[in-house]
Amino acid sequence: MCGIIGYIGEENAKSILINGLKKLEYRGYDSAGISVVNNKSLITLRKKGRISELEKCEDINDLEGNRGIAHTRWATHGAPNELNAHPHVDCSGKISVVHNGIIENHSALKKVLEQEGHKIKSDTDSEIIVHLIEKFYSGSLEDAMAKTVKCLTGAFGIAAIHSDEDNIVIAKKGSPLVIGISNKGMFVASDVAAILDYTKKVIYLNDNELAVIMKDHYVVSDINGEQVDKIVDEITWSVQEIEKGGFDHFMLKEIYDQPKALENCLRGRVKDGKIKLSIDFPPNDIERIVIVACGTSWHAALVGKYLLENITNIPVEVDYASEFRYRNPLVNERDVVIVISQSGETADSLAAIKEAKKKGAKTIGIVNVVGSTITREVDSGIYIHAGPEIGVASTKAFTCQIVALALLGLYLKQERGLSVDQKIIEALYELPEKSKKILESSKEIEMIAKEFVNSKNFLFLGRGINFPTALEGALKLKEISYIHAEGYPAAEMKHGPIALIDEEMPVFFVATDSENFKKIVGNMEEVKTRGGKIITLTDQKDDTVESLSEHVIYVPKTIEILSPILNTIPTQLFAYHVSNLMGLDVDKPRNLAKSVTVE
Ligand code: F6R
Repeated sequence: MCGIIGYIGEENAKSILINGLKKLEYRGYDSAGISVVNNKSLITLRKKGRISELEKCEDINDLEGNRGIAHTRWATHGAPNELNAHPHVDCSGKISVVHNGIIENHSALKKVLEQEGHKIKSDTDSEIIVHLIEKFYSGSLEDAMAKTVKCLTGAFGIAAIHSDEDNIVIAKKGSPLVIGISNKGMFVASDVAAILDYTKKVIYLNDNELAVIMKDHYVVSDINGEQVDKIVDEITWSVQEIEKGGFDHFMLKEIYDQPKALENCLRGRVKDGKIKLSIDFPPNDIERIVIVACGTSWHAALVGKYLLENITNIPVEVDYASEFRYRNPLVNERDVVIVISQSGETADSLAAIKEAKKKGAKTIGIVNVVGSTITREVDSGIYIHAGPEIGVASTKAFTCQIVALALLGLYLKQERGLSVDQKIIEALYELPEKSKKILESSKEIEMIAKEFVNSKNFLFLGRGINFPTALEGALKLKEISYIHAEGYPAAEMKHGPIALIDEEMPVFFVATDSENFKKIVGNMEEVKTRGGKIITLTDQKDDTVESLSEHVIYVPKTIEILSPILNTIPTQLFAYHVSNLMGLDVDKPRNLAKSVTVE
């Protein structure tokens, strides 16, 4: 959510900043801006729309200098227009600020600042930051930033420059910021993707830390000015991984990444029939598992409930992270709270896990992005190793999250002294090959998608562990094609949604092998009788299914508890093709951003 990049060094800052912004565009894309300092004078350019609009400006050629900051915005306060775009500049024209997060007390601060004579031009919560820095500035940007952040309530990742100084000053609370180190200069970014072209050496800032970055060194301190020693981490992702690699869209590439991603997620995690995870508390103490997450990760959590209860016999509850944190949840030290998050930065998920920790629960993170804030908050973690996910719609992270949940279930069982079903392990290791097979049906799914590009509504139905698959299929379709889609448990249809069925309502059934298979065929009959068009995803050769369905998509068989992993892939392809055939921006659907760091 919003992307920040800053550079100070020997090189031309503009090209580095624009390149970084392009890598960050998936975090927000309603407006963008850049400030560069040249000979002690600050030049700022802002534009509504994508980075390409900023690049088209004639004035961009005036941006010469070796120090600057830039921003791509996902609007929270104030419409997406040029006025509200970052960077924001103070009244003196010397200070420039970019901000990611939300300043909750901005109205009160604005009132005071205006009374003191500051001219606040935008409708954003962020602009007050630059005016506060201006107010406190008396020769040191660092001191002014320290005073400013003490006035702020809310979440922030801030980068600021002053035309008279030779540094970038940053501060963090609740929104991610990293410093990148290279022999050609220093970087700051909200996301390592922005700086991967230049360096793999990074320092993750913690909450309430502030840093002064100069062209060849940096100093990090806490909110009270005490210097903090930081560890330099090495990023393992490669530049190629954040490129499209010949695919038209990141989403398609990431769907096709799945065989490799699943393989990487499993790599080294089973040795001689034993599950190897680093969960550092005694599994025998666990009385209940609670899983918290948002969006697609929440759907993985729902699959996790079926999966973990089936494997471990431990009761599992699933909660939206945003609901969990605000309702005084009843958890204690005998509970394990698992948080699932691709980005590891989702504000609600982070707050939920903090709440669980406060109440004494043990915490586990299932996360993709190494070094992200959630990974540093939890007691133990399982990285899913899916590789960078740039497409706003989550794909490979979802399937890998379910693999991680299966491994965790097997591990808990094993550590409780119970024997682990080797058949599940075998089935897990067959998934990469089977997922490859599914990708071969992409063309066929595209042909099916063609028929549905004019649909206004869609229903996705599944039962048991594939009810969440239906929810995820519906979410994928609605978020990138803007076709209204609902996921429902197939058996619930007759308690309401069946009223919607007519010739205009296509229904996507997830109907792979289970003891409910015959029942779901019964649900298809109910839809067909009412004129609904049916697409069925199945691993069964069944005459009735074929006769009831307009289209049948076949997937390889796996054991039922792992079936959502394979079943989800055709639903991802279906959503992708519908959106692409409609000519929409698949990777950057309207109103969305990849990582939601505001509450
Ligand atoms: C949907 C999607 C979102 C995310 C949600 C949580 O395709 O990507 O629903 O799943 O915003 O994000 P993470 O997993 O990063 O916590």
